[in-house]
Amino acid sequence: MTQELREKLIDLLQTAYSAELETAENYLSWSVNLDGLHAQTIKEMLAKDVQVELAHARLLAERIYVLGGVVPGSMQLNKNQRYLQPSQEQSGIDYVVRGVVTAEESAIQHYRLLAEMAEGADPATQDLAVRLLADEEMHRREFTGILREIEDREVAAGRMSEEEKHCLTY
Ligand SMILES: [Fe+2]
Ligand SMILES: [Fe+2]
Repeated sequence: MTQELREKLIDLLQTAYSAELETAENYLSWSVNLDGLHAQTIKEMLAKDVQVELAHARLLAERIYVLGGVVPGSMQLNKNQRYLQPSQEQSGIDYVVRGVVTAEESAIQHYRLLAEMAEGADPATQDLAVRLLADEEMHRREFTGILREIEDREVAAGRMSEEEKHCLTY
């Protein structure tokens, strides 16, 4: 593996590590914050996923270490998930479910890129990216199932048209 590729992979692993921690932070907060009639199931799913995303962060940290990189500290972590922030207006299940699907979709794209970059040069990093990709696809699937149900209800109530359904885009 060239030095250039090693640095690129470390960079992608660090970005993924940061995103996993941010995801864990937001899932933790929503696993407590969420209100509403059907909130309990989603809160439990999010609480369970906090542990999974933290486990992902640990695996990424170990891979960064093996490749000779530095696992970032808190001051070096990026924050990007504007779509999962608690606010007065956005406290509903719909908002959270859409936000979770967006977070998972973003992780999926990142792990696809990481797997592609590592292919042929770093099988262990590629293997890790593929394993995490499968987990995130499962998370996305679980939450798009719920999103579909929410949006079908919105359509039935005349608050949304078939074309506006977000679940169709994932
Ligand atoms: Fe993850
Ligand atoms: Fe996930």
